[in-house]
Amino acid sequence: MSTTTTQMNCDVKNLDLADQGKKRIDWANQSMKVLQIIRKEFIKNHPLRGIRVSACLHVTAETANLAVCLRDGGADVVLCASNPLSTQDDVAASLVRDQGIPVFAIKGEDNDTYYNHIIAATEHRPHITMDDGADHTKRQDLLDGVIGGTEETTTGVIRLRAMAKEGVLRYPIVAVNDADTKHFFDNRYGTGQSTIDGIIRATNFLLAGSKFVIAGYGWCGRGLASRGRGAGAEVIVTEIDPTKALEAVMDGFRVMSMTEAAKIGDVFCTVTGNKNVLAREHFEVLKDGAIISNSGHFNVEIDIPALEKMSSSKRTTRNFVEEYVMRDGRKINLLGEGRLINLASAEGHPASVMDMSFADQALSVEYMGSNAKTLKPQVYVVPEHLDKEIARLKLESMGIKIDRLTPEQEEYLAGWSEGT
Ligand code: ADE
Repeated sequence: MSTTTTQMNCDVKNLDLADQGKKRIDWANQSMKVLQIIRKEFIKNHPLRGIRVSACLHVTAETANLAVCLRDGGADVVLCASNPLSTQDDVAASLVRDQGIPVFAIKGEDNDTYYNHIIAATEHRPHITMDDGADHTKRQDLLDGVIGGTEETTTGVIRLRAMAKEGVLRYPIVAVNDADTKHFFDNRYGTGQSTIDGIIRATNFLLAGSKFVIAGYGWCGRGLASRGRGAGAEVIVTEIDPTKALEAVMDGFRVMSMTEAAKIGDVFCTVTGNKNVLAREHFEVLKDGAIISNSGHFNVEIDIPALEKMSSSKRTTRNFVEEYVMRDGRKINLLGEGRLINLASAEGHPASVMDMSFADQALSVEYMGSNAKTLKPQVYVVPEHLDKEIARLKLESMGIKIDRLTPEQEEYLAGWSEGT
């Protein structure tokens, strides 16, 4: 499989894009200081020597720096996309041409090509799999030699935990998503900023003064709501979890059911991890010109088949904007085919936040390489000392010093008798 003129087995759009890709990878690298430190250590000690890694991640400039870091640590790495619309073709080209890392990913690939690319990466016969959405599990027959894996995202971790519970998970996984240095920052500030970036790049919509409806108040929803407010929108949150809904209320947002929100919202974004969050009954009442988008992992949060059935026609009005005309004449604008809008029409999370997520990934791969034999086919958290070390290094790279406990304070915290 190769649409490119290279000896390597790979499938990227066009190797002529590599010069631009290289510049963007270098640009991202400048903001990935923690990963740079890990890479230096990897170059010195080659902790991943002899380990084959199959990575199914969004193929971005930030992921390229992770792939190079693992390769420099001695790993034999191949990369495929974890979403048909998230690949940066210039980055994929540079990884192939400049780094010799095989990539199977083309932005806009159809579903068959997308799955064939995952198979091609899995045929690398990895020892370690890396996923953003648990895609490797789709080819159980190719996973015989795998000793362990890592998972980047909330949706993937939920699936893998369900598999472990049913006894069908075949090898141990480190849930990178669950590290504090991942979800506190990537899910909140990364998704918050990049989702708004994606919506604005696709539409050039003015958020100020608009009613911005956010479905889901997990870490991603929290970040998106806060950034939406910062852009001047009147943010409305919908939730199914009473505690999260209450948190949104006390964070100062309007909270209501989607049935109510659908009637008044100007722009919508789903970040729930669930399906049909925007569905037929909502399409029936959306305002003329409403914009609907998704930043959750899978393109199931908006019931697109229902929208297709309910509309009389559709046309592409801008890149990543599909205008559906309903039978009563109202227009509904769907962004990015309902796929992750922050990666479809923008560039994903900024490099400085991916720095921590991918530091977690790199150290988790190293951890799995040395500890897989002692682990069961279950989902594990990133060891706390690694999580804390990443936070410490990030602060150091920002030139920020923090206090330390005095011995007296340590003793106080460890005891129970002092104080009246
Ligand atoms: N997920 C969200 N943003 C990303 C990025 N910039 N690179 C890789 N994965 C991402």
